[in-house]
Amino acid sequence: MIFEQVATGGCQSYLVGCAETCAAALIDPEISQVDRYLALASRDGLRIRYLIDTHTHADHFTATQQLGRQLGVPVVMHRASPAPFVGMRLDGGDMLVLGKLRIQVFHTPGHTRDSMSLLVEDRLFTGDTLLIGGTGRTDLPTGDPEQLYDSLFNGILKLDPALKVFPAHDYKGRGHSTIGEELATNPRLQQRERTAFVQMMRSLDLSMPTHITEALRTNMSGGKTVAQLLAESATLVPFMSFTELKKCIDGKDADLIILDVRERDAYEQGHIETARLLPRGQLELRVNQDLPDPTPRILTYCEFGRISTLAAATLRQMGFQRAVALDGGIKAWREAGFPVKAGAGP
Ligand SMILES: [Fe+2]
Repeated sequence: MIFEQVATGGCQSYLVGCAETCAAALIDPEISQVDRYLALASRDGLRIRYLIDTHTHADHFTATQQLGRQLGVPVVMHRASPAPFVGMRLDGGDMLVLGKLRIQVFHTPGHTRDSMSLLVEDRLFTGDTLLIGGTGRTDLPTGDPEQLYDSLFNGILKLDPALKVFPAHDYKGRGHSTIGEELATNPRLQQRERTAFVQMMRSLDLSMPTHITEALRTNMSGGKTVAQLLAESATLVPFMSFTELKKCIDGKDADLIILDVRERDAYEQGHIETARLLPRGQLELRVNQDLPDPTPRILTYCEFGRISTLAAATLRQMGFQRAVALDGGIKAWREAGFPVKAGAGP
């Protein structure tokens, strides 16, 4: 078996490949590591055939949808997954064939309704059902401590104690453990009686993961994260540096229209000299009357340099082919000592 483990913060992803046939599966990929997974697969001579999410993640953004589209291979999840981009839905007991390898599927609900654990040779990928020294939480959407009890004590903990456990999270960099070690030392598994276990899970007072709303929204719907929208816009537009803009202003460059795309009060408090106000929210409404000529160069800026990137991309899509965005927002411009002007007019 060819095997790669990729950590992103506390999130773990796994690339599992058949050494004989070069077929591989990628388990729980995370959006910021797309290039790394593809690079590892090609370095190892593997072709990714399946993109598997062990469950609907609430704490990171899955890369399965994007990679699935890019590679033309199915996203694989349990059939209870709400994600519309899943191409192959599994039941517990199903098996995926990966060259000479077999991926055996266990439905292990509890952390989420759609949680699966995957057995490949001597390795068990437990998702968030069983962690090293812990278990997945059961207080997030579709979590259920009763189900987690069954998935653990009447499920995967009955497997061979020598099996290696590879979880979807490991915050302490321990890499992996075994079923036997977890049974012996995992504090949560010491409550082996159902009522006590459920009571313990219900009494955990855990803080919400960061980005939970956005992670659930995008992982469940296939929609884009704000960071993805910004990154896509940034690939569509060129940028202008502060010094270049200052040079244009000082040289009274008549061919450059500067657009402040913030709201009026922010503009009046202080804007870049000669900039006109055209709030992002009104861009499409006012573009025809405010920018009748599509040929001049148009620079957009905002407070932090993000909304202006979206605005410049929108302008380019509408035919303003020389739209550029300021590299950084007016906050950084001000802090770098460049001048701003208060008042209602440019
Ligand atoms: Fe999770």
